[in-house]
Amino acid sequence: MELLEALRLQWEWGADEALLDAPQDRRHAAPPPEAVPEPPRPRPAAVAKLVSALPAGPAEARQLAESCHTLAALEAAMRGFTGCALRDTATQLVFADGADDARLIIVGEAPGAEEDRAGKPFVGPAGQLLDRMLASIGLDRTQVRIINTVPWRPPGNRTPSEAEIALCLPFLHRQIALVAPRGLLALGAVAAKALLPAEGGLGIRRLRGTWREAQIAGLPAALPCLATYHPAYLLRTPAAKAEAWRDLLSVKAWLETLPAH
Ligand code: URA
Repeated sequence: MELLEALRLQWEWGADEALLDAPQDRRHAAPPPEAVPEPPRPRPAAVAKLVSALPAGPAEARQLAESCHTLAALEAAMRGFTGCALRDTATQLVFADGADDARLIIVGEAPGAEEDRAGKPFVGPAGQLLDRMLASIGLDRTQVRIINTVPWRPPGNRTPSEAEIALCLPFLHRQIALVAPRGLLALGAVAAKALLPAEGGLGIRRLRGTWREAQIAGLPAALPCLATYHPAYLLRTPAAKAEAWRDLLSVKAWLETLPAH
């Protein structure tokens, strides 16, 4: 049972590959050799072959995202995209929930365990709080669109790395551009930094509560973007709810300034 637990822990922390084909008994391992011979240098053709086998990077993600002209095409392209290692450990893509023509897009961090199982963003405890937060300003999920900065669950719910966020950014921008909302609500530091890189990496406490401008690839003008605390943080830190409430009232007031849908 302990071995099973240890194996599960490794899986949750993202170990997705065994290093050796056969188990090694390290209690009787031979001492390391004095000098390690230099491996033969690969020939240029071999290097080119290796490079072509590398996973797709942000440039490929950008090209793929920009080639999609509908939300359905984007979802299908993301499902088929193999360039992000998170896809290998996640159960499935978590694309979006809510309206295709929403005036407000809410951007979270990344799916958790429940979202990964359901294929839908914000269905766990943080999502239930988000539903209550929306209801408190007279909204429900059908009136907004909910997406994540990174659409695959990071193993063990760790924070997505800078590289993973950069890789997924073209998909995030493309989905926003295809919906063309009037504004954005960033939940937590990861979404806020991804959407507001011009703010110089300010922490969420400094970023939240002030409407800023998000430049989204493919949209002719910047979108107003408000950052607030992530509902998962609010569950752990109820004292921050007063500030989050002020941010929600600001969203409500901003929505009221928009022409009727
Ligand atoms: N937290 C997020 O940021 N996104 C989800 O979908 C669920 C929890």
